[in-house]
Amino acid sequence: MSEAAVPLLETSGLTKIFGRLTALRSQSITVRTGEIVGVIGPNGSGKSTFFNCVTGFLRPNAGEVRLSGQPIQNLPPMKIARLGIARTFQGTRLFAGLTVRENVRAAAQLRHPSSMLDAVLGTPRLRAVEDKVDAMTAELLGLVDLHRQADRRAGDLPYGDQRRLELVRALATGPRLLMLDEPAAGMDAAETRRLLELISDIRHRYKLGVIVVEHDMDLIMNLCDRIQVLAAGETVFEGTPAAVQAHPRVREVYLGHE
Ligand SMILES: Nc1ncnc2c1ncn2[C@@H]1O[C@H](COP(=O)(O)OP(=O)(O)O)[C@@H](O)[C@H]1O
Ligand SMILES: [Mg+2]
Repeated sequence: MSEAAVPLLETSGLTKIFGRLTALRSQSITVRTGEIVGVIGPNGSGKSTFFNCVTGFLRPNAGEVRLSGQPIQNLPPMKIARLGIARTFQGTRLFAGLTVRENVRAAAQLRHPSSMLDAVLGTPRLRAVEDKVDAMTAELLGLVDLHRQADRRAGDLPYGDQRRLELVRALATGPRLLMLDEPAAGMDAAETRRLLELISDIRHRYKLGVIVVEHDMDLIMNLCDRIQVLAAGETVFEGTPAAVQAHPRVREVYLGHE
């Protein structure tokens, strides 16, 4: 198989059981570089569980997760992050007491680590790494128009800005796959529109695959190339936004059509 034929992310038979509840049942998904794939479904349908299984926060009971063909389902979250999967959480998880810049810098350092020895000796290598981290931090803050707020405490930003800061903090780790869990939650229509433009811009700019979980149907339908619909842990439909909107069962289970 040529390299282009190997998808960026591929899950198969992915299953997560909590006690008597099967939160995710034999799920499969394929995401290629440059694609934005939406995952939708009612509350409790397994969307966040899917994210947690892919990013190593939960160990699946069965199934495989492959990143560019490499099985990763038994690796810890930090290893998976280093291999190129970055995520945001449902609800923000910023370092509220650090500044906006420090939040992005901390993530950029994951991508450009410097050794303790470099740090202690103040080697030229350290300087070069620090310069790279600073440049990437400035670029990302510019991308979300937060450069003028760089010295504010992250916790003092308006909520919409915090969500966008969280998104570029994930980007700062240099991912190949970006996973966004309800990124538009709590945003008004104008902020959601800006978020849509940001996500579609960064997938080309940074050559990413993107997975978005979201309840905002306007965002999902206008942003995604493909959509997977979950209900009670199972994939009930997968297709283009137009096909999802036209599908009677999907309208029934998710879009609330009588
Ligand atoms: N750590 C956990 N322990 C037990 N049950 C869980 C855990 N995480 C999620 N669940 C349950 O699994 C189901 C799927 O949850 P989740 O993946 O968070 O759904 P969604 O993100 O689609 O709203 C829910 O019934 C939820 O209560
Ligand atoms: Mg969730």
